[in-house]
Amino acid sequence: MTYELLDVRPMTKRIGAEIFGVDLSQPLGNQAYSEIHTALMQHQVIFFRDQALTHDAHKAFARSFGDLAIHSGVKGLDDHPEVVAIHADENSKFVAGEKWHSDLSCDPEPPMGSILHMHTLPDHGGDTLFASMYAAYDALSPAMKRFLEPLTAVHDGNHVYKAIFPDSTKTYPCNSHPVVRTHPVTGRKLLFVNSSYTTRVNELSKEESQAILAFLFQHVQNPNFHVRFRWQRDSLAFWDNRCTQHFAVWDYFPDVRSGYRVTVAGDKPF
Ligand code: SIN
Repeated sequence: MTYELLDVRPMTKRIGAEIFGVDLSQPLGNQAYSEIHTALMQHQVIFFRDQALTHDAHKAFARSFGDLAIHSGVKGLDDHPEVVAIHADENSKFVAGEKWHSDLSCDPEPPMGSILHMHTLPDHGGDTLFASMYAAYDALSPAMKRFLEPLTAVHDGNHVYKAIFPDSTKTYPCNSHPVVRTHPVTGRKLLFVNSSYTTRVNELSKEESQAILAFLFQHVQNPNFHVRFRWQRDSLAFWDNRCTQHFAVWDYFPDVRSGYRVTVAGDKPF
């Protein structure tokens, strides 16, 4: 793929690219949109530097790729309900995304993508790891792929958000999705279970389900499928939530790390 406008620099062979040559605070022209979309489909997570964005500009950029989703577990900002604050400091008891996950896989239609803009970073640490679920699927043996193909799994938001909000009386989304999903744009198969939300493989006994999920959660941790992003002030990451998982490293306590995330609506996995 050749890019006319953008300078796209892959970070690994399997996942991740840094993108230069575009100002995301300005409306995207057709060519810029098309090249960013192509880079996202090719590299699954793309990173931009030095993008000072207002909430409106952040949302406008996200809207180029689809409708905005309202987070089903965490309340957005009062005046921008589609924008969720990501924040940790010396009072934090947990941080968002400390386990491998794809965002809101508990939703009936999990988000297509998430766009995270960071404005305050610790001096050291606070990286985010991303894993390619294409690479995780491709690395399985043909026999394991055949075994997983017809299975579905439960993705439950209740244990995730009740741990964060113990006093909440709210019921959070809980839905079943295929264990092996086909990406609606690329047509590639990928692994779609994660250690935050996925609780049970429907077609297996409880013990079988625990064993196979333990294997798959460990499989996803293989660094051969990963890229690691080191944030700077005004960095922005845009990940395709359908074919990646991510893990926010909390190695900077008690320092402050802060930013905002917007999610783009997705569709029902098949
Ligand atoms: C998240 O969206 O899970 C948080 C990611 C991060 O803070 O790096």
